[in-house]
Amino acid sequence: DKLVALVPAAGIGRRMGADKPKQYLPLTEHCILGETLARLLAHPAISEVVVALAAEDPYFDDLAQASHPKLRTVIGGDERADSVLACLAAVNPDIAPWVLVHDAARPLITAGDIDAVVKAARAGQGAILAAPLVDTIKWSQDGKRIEETVPRQHLWRALTPQCFPTGALRLALSEALAEGASITDEASAMERLGWPVTLVKGRNDNIKITEPADLPLARWLLSQQESC
Ligand code: CTP
Ligand code: MG
Repeated sequence: DKLVALVPAAGIGRRMGADKPKQYLPLTEHCILGETLARLLAHPAISEVVVALAAEDPYFDDLAQASHPKLRTVIGGDERADSVLACLAAVNPDIAPWVLVHDAARPLITAGDIDAVVKAARAGQGAILAAPLVDTIKWSQDGKRIEETVPRQHLWRALTPQCFPTGALRLALSEALAEGASITDEASAMERLGWPVTLVKGRNDNIKITEPADLPLARWLLSQQESC
């Protein structure tokens, strides 16, 4: 059975503050989105990549990957979850029972991490890449006075890819949005329904490019990937 990758790429990159959406900023010989797509398209287990774009997007057609036969585009929505749902609407669950959702802004994703999350997902009912926290975590109501230290051994940062059954994810996301729940990743929509989601420890270099300083960092991390 087929595995389809869904790539939300309809954001504006407000925190980056550049003159265009951050996914179109140059990273290597590709822009950020180009690098992300190149890695997903090259993966043998991924049969198709569906990317959600902003309604007005004058940049996508210039990508080297834009006319790749495994690639399809849809129009995204106001929130990331709307964009993922728009991708899901283009997937037939009978043909592709599993989807892999991956942020456009994480171009450092490796084949090894993709394989690990897909394997764990199929062994259970869904899985996400995640990273344990390294810093000591403080809880504060007002952002000034510390109320307590939160034990960090149970805390993880959610990364992407996140891999779920196609039909269940569509149901969970549309229900969450209809009920006005705040959904920032796929797992949170599944957790609401009590769905068991497996954590898979991912690589530390799978950063989400968010702020200007992340660009030189991503280029350096990329150079380290290439040398190993
Ligand atoms: N995304 C999307 N549709 C939206 C909002 C975000 O497809 N309505 C995508 C982004 O393009 C990105 C991914 O979701 O690939 C993760 O979002 P984030 O890193 O927050 O990107 P932006 O929302 O563009 O950035 P910011 O929050 O700084 O504006
Ligand atoms: Mg955002």
